[in-house]
Amino acid sequence: MGHKKSSKQFFDLRLAANLGLVQRLFHQLYPKETESNHFQKLMVLLPKLFQSRPDELKIQDLNRLESGNWYQSEKMVGMQLYVEHFNKDLKGLQSKIPYLKDLGINLLHLMPITPRPTGENDGGYAVNKYHGVAKQYGSSKDLLNLTQELRKQDMFLMLDFVVNHTSDEFTWAKKARAGDKKYQDYYYTYADDTVPKAFEKSLPEVFPETSPGNFTYDPEMKRWVMTVFNNYQWDLNYSNPEVFLEMLTNLIKMVNQGVDIVRFDALAFLWKKMGTISQNLPEAHTLISLFRMCLQIIAPGAIFLAEAIVAPKEIVKYFGQESTKGNECEIAYNASLMALLWNSIATKKTLLLYKSLTNVPQKPNDCTWINYIRCHDDIGLGYDDGFIREIGWNPQLHRKFLLDYYCQRLDWSPATGLLFMYNPKTGDGRITGSATSLLGLEKGLAKKDKVLIQEAVSKMILLYGIVLAYGGIPLIYGGDEIGTLNDYSFLEETDKKDDNRWVNRPKQNWDMVANLNDKKLPQSQIFNAVQKLIAIRKKHSVFADDNNLVIHHTGNDHIFAFERTSEREGLLVLCNFDEKEQVVQSRWISKLGYFTKGEPKNLVSNKKVPLKSGLLRLDPYQLMWLMKG
Ligand code: GLC
Repeated sequence: MGHKKSSKQFFDLRLAANLGLVQRLFHQLYPKETESNHFQKLMVLLPKLFQSRPDELKIQDLNRLESGNWYQSEKMVGMQLYVEHFNKDLKGLQSKIPYLKDLGINLLHLMPITPRPTGENDGGYAVNKYHGVAKQYGSSKDLLNLTQELRKQDMFLMLDFVVNHTSDEFTWAKKARAGDKKYQDYYYTYADDTVPKAFEKSLPEVFPETSPGNFTYDPEMKRWVMTVFNNYQWDLNYSNPEVFLEMLTNLIKMVNQGVDIVRFDALAFLWKKMGTISQNLPEAHTLISLFRMCLQIIAPGAIFLAEAIVAPKEIVKYFGQESTKGNECEIAYNASLMALLWNSIATKKTLLLYKSLTNVPQKPNDCTWINYIRCHDDIGLGYDDGFIREIGWNPQLHRKFLLDYYCQRLDWSPATGLLFMYNPKTGDGRITGSATSLLGLEKGLAKKDKVLIQEAVSKMILLYGIVLAYGGIPLIYGGDEIGTLNDYSFLEETDKKDDNRWVNRPKQNWDMVANLNDKKLPQSQIFNAVQKLIAIRKKHSVFADDNNLVIHHTGNDHIFAFERTSEREGLLVLCNFDEKEQVVQSRWISKLGYFTKGEPKNLVSNKKVPLKSGLLRLDPYQLMWLMKG
């Protein structure tokens, strides 16, 4: 596409248009007189960072601005994967692009590939450098080759920006350790434990089993340092404007490698204030919006994903509120939907799902969700206690039931999950395990129990059928497409054995992929179904996130129903979470206009759906995608 103005002129326009907001956000965070020269530094930095952006990407930025919200399209289907677990390294990954395209993937989220400490490193979330590539994945050149190839193939790339903390081997941490006061102020460091103790009074613990508390004493530095996650992950001090300026530079260097979506890791934790839990603070939102506005000015083709695994009403705030509405992150993980789906699988009921989803505050129109069922982390049970009570359940006992159900404490449960970070002080715990192991495939295969196996396959298709249709970007967790089970090999590795999230970070089973022609295999059934559903999604614009989601109450507590509407098309998704056949009254479906031209077609089975005595039947765990007309 040709543009009459130069990309620099467009940059100047973007800067002029957004300067007021940038200035306001900056001064809100850094109001002191002495800090005003930092704003001047930012003004010098922005054009410099823009200049460093490769021309090819500058052109792409302009094209994206013209073509609208690419990230809301029905064509978007992502996969999250560990490069080393998928196919050795970046080159190996590139050689598998045909496999990904064949499945229908056009967005890759690669788990961290940046340099990290050799021992424990939280799967790369302890960062030694924000750009560049750790040796085991290849070279920076390999990454550039990959991003170029992805662009050629119309594919998108998402990488993490671990914005909240660096590793204790990062240059700044090393300098702080060596006694450099300037870099000690890049982190929250203290000469004695008075301040840490005062902070601890209100701070929760993220990893209570393996890294209790939020501070670590560093004997070399002879100071305490804030370490909210692991003791080798030092929290950055954003109340220091130097840190913001340096991290903005790191962000842009990373994005300039050809990254389309920046996964803003652990962003809820960015601002700390004594006496609070130091999560979701208003200043954190201001800071994120400031980062975002600078990114918009420099590289408007790149966008942010909020990794805020927090309460539903808090998550939507990461899209921006009031004067910064739509000016924070364009995408957020739909962690609420994910956790609720697992609740529905265990309870076979959709009450909490319905109640919670119909009470989620509206997202801004230009923002969207990442919908997913599993990722590399645990499943937290962050439901709203009020809704649990309204259903008539006791929140504490209900959570205990879910942990029992998924973590092998109930004989009759099909799930083989593991209990993660159980905190005896609070009774809280989380769940790890691969999707199919949690759904019963592992147990079914071990017992050669055909019913269990079939149910697990149906449940997997049900869950993926929901995230593919819900509105937003569906993100398949690498390996799920072939029903990969738990991987227990982490128990043999010293640096991993204490973190059982590794049970759901499997190596891609290429032997299984080679066997997918065997249609009888449960894994092939999953692959074929997911592949087919993706293809259907891409064919109908009603799947694009046009803020066209309507959740329906069916009157049957086992069934979840939602509709995607547009002027031309309508799609009604019906999901039976029960192990028995269930029926719904067809009258309300007729009223929506689904039976006007005879029986509607279920796109999943490619068959018309018959009505018997005004009832529509769903098999155990059946997914229906009914098309209007
Ligand atoms: C995010 C990541 C998680 C990591 C944490 C700390 O939550 O998803 O894997 O442990 O951030 O960086």
